[in-house]
Amino acid sequence: MPAGTLGKLQTPLADGETRGASLSGFDRDFVVALSGTPRSISPKYFYDAQGSILFDRICELPEYYPTRVELALLATHAREMARHMGPGAEIVEFGAGSLRKVRLLLGAMERPARYLPIDISGEHLGAAARALRRDYPSLHVQPLVADYTRHLLLPAPRDGAGQRIGFFPGSTIGNFTPAEALHFLQMAAQVLRGGALLLGADLVKDPDVLHAAYNDAQGVTAAFNLNLLARANRELEGNFDLTQFAHSAFYNAPLQRIEMHLVSRRRQRVRVCGQEFEFAEGETLHTENSCKFTIESLQTLARQAGFAIGPVWTDPQKYFSLHWLSAPT
Ligand code: AVI
Repeated sequence: MPAGTLGKLQTPLADGETRGASLSGFDRDFVVALSGTPRSISPKYFYDAQGSILFDRICELPEYYPTRVELALLATHAREMARHMGPGAEIVEFGAGSLRKVRLLLGAMERPARYLPIDISGEHLGAAARALRRDYPSLHVQPLVADYTRHLLLPAPRDGAGQRIGFFPGSTIGNFTPAEALHFLQMAAQVLRGGALLLGADLVKDPDVLHAAYNDAQGVTAAFNLNLLARANRELEGNFDLTQFAHSAFYNAPLQRIEMHLVSRRRQRVRVCGQEFEFAEGETLHTENSCKFTIESLQTLARQAGFAIGPVWTDPQKYFSLHWLSAPT
């Protein structure tokens, strides 16, 4: 998940990278979060350098099934997905992750023309792009530094290009509020006109499986959650004592979502951004929702955004789903 506010894309840089504008906002949003009742902040602020390393570790955890299951779905069905894309297609990836997932698609595609990963972190993108260029010399790799959750401009399709395919794996859609999810899908439907979106969505399942995935035995998810306060200490002159906040993650069944919070272990005062805030014992900062979908609820949302429903790929346990959604013409 990217951080900050969106910029429109500006002049392409020498290496083909395109840069978005103003990307700050952590300070403003953190103060707003601590001033509100109940206290709540966007999960996009988890992903500084340290948070991204911790998230990569989460993806390797035995309890965290989404990455493993989605990779297996891609490996099994990439040829069929590539047939839907057709020859000469280009892939727009919203958020450039480890590239493991898109490699499975690129390896199955017929003459992939261009790959446009979009991420808020230029550093992350640059390294990923270099690795892909080495492995696919004929692929045009054009990273874009931008916040894809806001307004987005993409370069025009290249002459003779095939379909433009959006790729949004990992169920990051579940970290959006319902309004943000709809807004993102509406924006994707616009920029992918005539093409399609391949969307990963985590499914509603046994609460014990969900609980374990966000309360791993090694405590990596706890460290990921607490890193938000460590980041505030590093960047916002905060003085949070991390030992005095506890990681809490639970499945809210009626709302079909995992909620993550940071719970104050005692009554305490904290300074951040030059301001003082009081926490009561047990008071929480709500740091993330990870919404779980049914196939039908995801399809209803996609239809609302203007997509036509295509095939869905799921694993035998129905833990995770990948949806082919056709964008309007
Ligand atoms: C990125 N996102 C889909 C993850 C999720 O499962 O909601 C973030 C995460 N939070 C805790 N563990 C993983």
